[in-house]
Amino acid sequence: MSVVRLASLRVLAIALATLAATLFSASVSAAEKVSFSEDIYPIIQIRCLECHQPQGEGYEKSGLDLRTYEGLMKGTKFGPMVIPGDAFMSNLIVLIDGRARAGLRMPHGKKKLNSCDRRLFRSWINQGAKNN
Ligand code: HEC
Repeated sequence: MSVVRLASLRVLAIALATLAATLFSASVSAAEKVSFSEDIYPIIQIRCLECHQPQGEGYEKSGLDLRTYEGLMKGTKFGPMVIPGDAFMSNLIVLIDGRARAGLRMPHGKKKLNSCDRRLFRSWINQGAKNN
């Protein structure tokens, strides 16, 4: 009897610890609010803009103009690259993660964005891709 009790107490303790961890990480990610102007745009400026503005090869080929939030949200001539709330399905993330067809990763022909920068893009989109 007491052995059974002890075992169920342990299960309860583990469940509580898991719940606490979940709540804790939820509150941490809520605190990590990603800002377009402070987090995302600086990356775009340094890593994307040289090609994604008029006369740049990325803009000329795809129509994607990254000078403004509106341009980013409008996407390419084929359609939006950002699906607010769904980073996994957003082509922008597919491209910077290198999940698109071979050879087509952004920034095109340059060093891959580091995992922090890619995580910022993902969180920003999952948080609704706001102009914040
Ligand atoms: C060195 C130039 C260059 C840089 C830097 C660059 N791109 Fe591009 N980008 C291109 C070119 C060229 C294309 C068109 C590719 C094609 O369709 O073959 C393109 C296309 C795209 C597309 C549309 C792809 C499609 O499926 O139509 C997206 C989205 C994109 N770039 C995002 C970015 C982002 C985000 C960055 C910065 C992290 C970036 N690019 C940096 C050159 C660049």
